[in-house]
Amino acid sequence: MGFSVLVTGSNRGIGFGLIRELASRSDVTNVFAGVRNPESFPDITEVPNKEKIQVVQLEISDKESVSSAAHTIQKALGDNDGGLDMLINSAGIISGPEYTQVEECDSEDFIKTLNVNVVGTHLVTTTFLPLLRRGSTKKVINISSKLGSISELTRLHDVMRPLPHYTTSKAAVNSITQSYALTYAKEDFIIFPVCPGYVKTDMAPSGVLTVEQSASNIANLAMKATKEYNGVFYDSVDGKIINW
Ligand SMILES: NC(=O)c1ccc[n+]([C@@H]2O[C@H](COP(=O)([O-])OP(=O)(O)OC[C@H]3O[C@@H](n4cnc5c(N)ncnc54)[C@H](OP(=O)(O)O)[C@@H]3O)[C@@H](O)[C@H]2O)c1
Repeated sequence: MGFSVLVTGSNRGIGFGLIRELASRSDVTNVFAGVRNPESFPDITEVPNKEKIQVVQLEISDKESVSSAAHTIQKALGDNDGGLDMLINSAGIISGPEYTQVEECDSEDFIKTLNVNVVGTHLVTTTFLPLLRRGSTKKVINISSKLGSISELTRLHDVMRPLPHYTTSKAAVNSITQSYALTYAKEDFIIFPVCPGYVKTDMAPSGVLTVEQSASNIANLAMKATKEYNGVFYDSVDGKIINW
């Protein structure tokens, strides 16, 4: 039996890094790249094992798109017994200016950020549960951020530039992830949030890690995760636990 994985937000940044990284692994056979605009998916002619990669239209805040992606992936895996082994929710945004004082944070930007990062992650997870249930490992890894930890936010508040709607959204990602982890532990799901580190992408142009380094760290953590990982927040840079 092969190992199948879906990564959301995978036309660029950490998501695309994960697609390349996972396709390169001999223990992974099907890599579904969820992208809201398939035309924006990069040319993968030179990517090793590109035949493992299938691009699927997936706008995570749109119910119809998410349902249609689940249907497409179910068909690709075989309607009867093929389940999805792992879901990595990587799609995320910072709507509006990245840095803004809390009292100046625009409510529309706040709503958009919460809608994609939190509600979108929830919508994808809940829609793919039936397929994940039939998978061999039942893993859901949500790409969160250390800044979604209230302990870390408190520790770093005076030295970091403020991005309150984003940090609040990642605290909520942690909370909804924990709700799933606690609810589905009884079905042997392994569900946890991961901080990818500070990674140089469009979202974080000053990031210090390359996408390749971060994707390799995340993939290592995700692939080796056992049931003890369920409901624990990890830093993929050093593999250590982050306090909520
Ligand atoms: N970079 C960092 O240092 C860092 C640190 C901590 C956490 N993170 C988290 O890591 C994840 C990936 O971030 P990144 O740095 O790779 O960001 P990025 O380069 O800006 O990529 C974001 C990805 O999310 C997709 N996306 C956004 N909204 C979407 C939607 N509604 N439906 C489907 N896809 C959507 C984008 O697709 P389009 O091209 O279509 O917009 C893009 O593929 C995010 O959850 C982010 O919060 C990043």
